[in-house]
Amino acid sequence: MKTIAALPLVLAVCPLLASCNSSGTERDFERMVNQAHFEYYEEAPFFDDRRVMREPPEGTVPRERFLGPPEVISGMVDGKFVEAIPIPLSRPMLDHGRERYEVFCAACHGVGGDGVSVVADNMELRKPPSFVEAPVLDYPVGRVYQAIAQGYGLMPTYGQELGVEERWSVVAYVRALQLRTKGVAVGVLPEPVRVRMQEELR
Ligand code: HEC
Repeated sequence: MKTIAALPLVLAVCPLLASCNSSGTERDFERMVNQAHFEYYEEAPFFDDRRVMREPPEGTVPRERFLGPPEVISGMVDGKFVEAIPIPLSRPMLDHGRERYEVFCAACHGVGGDGVSVVADNMELRKPPSFVEAPVLDYPVGRVYQAIAQGYGLMPTYGQELGVEERWSVVAYVRALQLRTKGVAVGVLPEPVRVRMQEELR
């Protein structure tokens, strides 16, 4: 009941408000934008060093920066690409890597990593290389990781689409594709698989 009773009042006030606005007495909602301010690189007498562009306080970390051991975050240690995937591997992770690979890499590098794709056929300047042939076949895993994280030459970065762990899972899947073509050294097989293989081959 109350709302209905108030309705005529609201309707009566509305034209008044509208007329306020058109009469030029409206509030200046742009005053935060239109206030006195310095331009980049201008001199600012307010600060002792007169620099208007301030340094962030020591220890400030960009919100989007990943924190963690350098080998995990950058794929490098002491200026060298890591040779082994620096986080624990698991079956679900490899499956996820496959799924991400097929979404983000296969269109160019081919579903099997062999560089055969429609996009590759049509890329004229530089073709996406095959992962299962030299030189990429012999790259340390850190280099593959870095290509994802930072991009490489004409290839864009996929650092926005894939988080650190996801990048490593894609690297793991690329490794799996590579091992499949390389043939796997008996020594790297897990114990139960090796035993079974040796029995079956005897
Ligand atoms: C739009 C096509 C495209 C997509 C998608 C793409 N790449 Fe590439 N990739 C390229 C091209 C082209 C090159 C060669 C760039 C050059 O040499 O300038 C390349 C190069 C590479 C290299 C070699 C880098 C080096 O150091 O020599 C690796 C490794 C690689 N890509 C991995 C990936 C992975 C992993 C993904 C998925 C996350 C991916 N690429 C997605 C086009 C693509």
